[in-house]
Amino acid sequence: MDRLRKEYGGQVVLERLNLTIQEGEFCSMVGASGCGKSTFLRLLLGQEQVTRGEILLDGQPLPGEPDAHRGVVFQRYSVFEHLSVLRNVMLGLELPKAKLTGRLFGAQRRAARDEAAAMLERVGLGAALNKYPQQLSGGMQQRLAIAQALMMKPRVLLLDEPFGALDPGIRKDMHALLSDLWREAKLTIFMVTHDLKEGFTLGSRVLVFDKVRVDPQAPGAYGARITYNIPLDRSRESVSAVHLARAAVQGASNIEVVS
Ligand SMILES: Nc1ncnc2c1ncn2[C@@H]1O[C@H](COP(=O)(O)OP(=O)(O)OP(=O)(O)O)[C@@H](O)[C@H]1O
Ligand SMILES: [Mg+2]
Repeated sequence: MDRLRKEYGGQVVLERLNLTIQEGEFCSMVGASGCGKSTFLRLLLGQEQVTRGEILLDGQPLPGEPDAHRGVVFQRYSVFEHLSVLRNVMLGLELPKAKLTGRLFGAQRRAARDEAAAMLERVGLGAALNKYPQQLSGGMQQRLAIAQALMMKPRVLLLDEPFGALDPGIRKDMHALLSDLWREAKLTIFMVTHDLKEGFTLGSRVLVFDKVRVDPQAPGAYGARITYNIPLDRSRESVSAVHLARAAVQGASNIEVVS
């Protein structure tokens, strides 16, 4: 994307974004609350349109509407309350194959069921297949949403603070799971996080969003930009490089550092 800009009404949210991301990268995105990270994800999803500039995927303009190539886990939960945990995850497999009824039958259904159950096992919900979302804790609902998105085997996975509601132990397990899936499925991932350490641990690249120009007379006149774009060499994960990069990020204003 080149000099991308996004406004809401008269308010500039994002401006002068220039970014090229290779397939298979894991981009962690950090920045102050309200600086436009979720907006950026919605642009990538095709749920929102840019005001100026363009986003290219494989050199082609991004489809203007969400599709199965882009999976998403929103900041707030996106599960269906009236379906069991298992059905919630099966649904992604059923809908494309059974457009009229939304249900599969016989062997196809059993295969979908097994695949969904295996994914739920991986996210630690193997014992909750027949529960309903409102019977789950916040962290369990979040894991359900993650399983739902991963089930679709998207090429691009968009994650908006996916681990915000999880306690540290489960968070660690989910980090390991996401890293494994990223490598196995060669996913391209964009993940918003408020936890800088998480961003550096998981990402192959860290993007820092920051509003550098502020006019107190006109709060909506300027938007946030990507002020740091830090590639992390995962193959030779040198501790000093990560420390250097972290120091650079901490120099940026308005960044919440949690470690
Ligand atoms: N649909 C919308 N209409 C108008 N303004 C919006 C809309 N969505 C977001 N905004 C504004 O855009 C700005 C960026 O919002 P966004 O949700 O992208 O921030 P964020 O970086 O994700 O914040 P947080 O870290 O708190 O989730 C905010 O000022 C918000 O009020
Ligand atoms: Mg947000």
